[in-house]
Amino acid sequence: MDTQLEIPGVARLATGPCGLPRYEITTPLAEAHIYLHGAHVSHFVPARQAPVLFMSSQSQFQPGRPIRGGVPVIFPWFGPREGFPSHGFARISSWTPESLVQKPGGEVVLTLRLEPDDKARAEWPGSWVLHFRVTVGTALTMELEIENTGSELLRAQDTLHTYFLVQDVRNVSVSGLEGAEYYDQLDRMQLKHQPAEPIRFTGETDRDYINTTSACVIEDPGLRRRIVVEKSGSQSTVVWNPWIAKSKAMPDFGDNEWPHMVCVESGNVFDNTLEIAPGARHISRTLLRTEPI
Ligand code: BG6
Repeated sequence: MDTQLEIPGVARLATGPCGLPRYEITTPLAEAHIYLHGAHVSHFVPARQAPVLFMSSQSQFQPGRPIRGGVPVIFPWFGPREGFPSHGFARISSWTPESLVQKPGGEVVLTLRLEPDDKARAEWPGSWVLHFRVTVGTALTMELEIENTGSELLRAQDTLHTYFLVQDVRNVSVSGLEGAEYYDQLDRMQLKHQPAEPIRFTGETDRDYINTTSACVIEDPGLRRRIVVEKSGSQSTVVWNPWIAKSKAMPDFGDNEWPHMVCVESGNVFDNTLEIAPGARHISRTLLRTEPI
């Protein structure tokens, strides 16, 4: 497999902080950075616009640790699991470049691949291959394809744990989840109902919405834009902001960075855990685009 795929003047494998290799993609449509560590998109800037993704200035860029910000790829479990890395091993694994193409319209499509090593096999049952396809254009499209290559049913959870850059989360609203049910991580995982109105942020928020397939819209009057998060193959949406105390407790997140981010994560968690038949594949697809307001 060619691990040195490049498109001269458009996409090159460069060295990011702490020596971690990353793809740097620059076209008239947009700019993006994608690390092999975690298949992590850390940067997406459509032409003449502000960055769409939030990155913490305190992020560590080290093997074995997740990058804080951008889009961590969560697989095969979501959240803490005693004795194992939080949010699974995909985001701290080294992925392999599989293909890199530029479409006639100028979009660049990078595909990375992950197969389990012995450690991953010991941490999660089943045989699988992941392909993560990122399309960089005026929109950013991310597709996580999970292929069950084993002879047993594969159970797994996934999310594209996207950190969005906002001017001040206290002035932001997230719509698309009106009336949905969610588990409140901050209230003993009680199942609650989102009222028929958008989410607004007045404190730490950590909610796992289930059975939700609609697009979400992040309305940010400060940056005068709307970010539209469209998805398919995803039944859950996680909404998270750590607010003050949790920010201080996170070593790789600045104490005062919380107003400038909100996570709206598309995936399949809890009641929506994936069950993939032998030989079958599942694709969780998320498209991010912005509109001026
Ligand atoms: C969110 C969870 O998805 O990720 C939160 O709902 C968690 O509970 C957050 O704090 C960050 O997790 P981590 O492992 O990256 O610190």
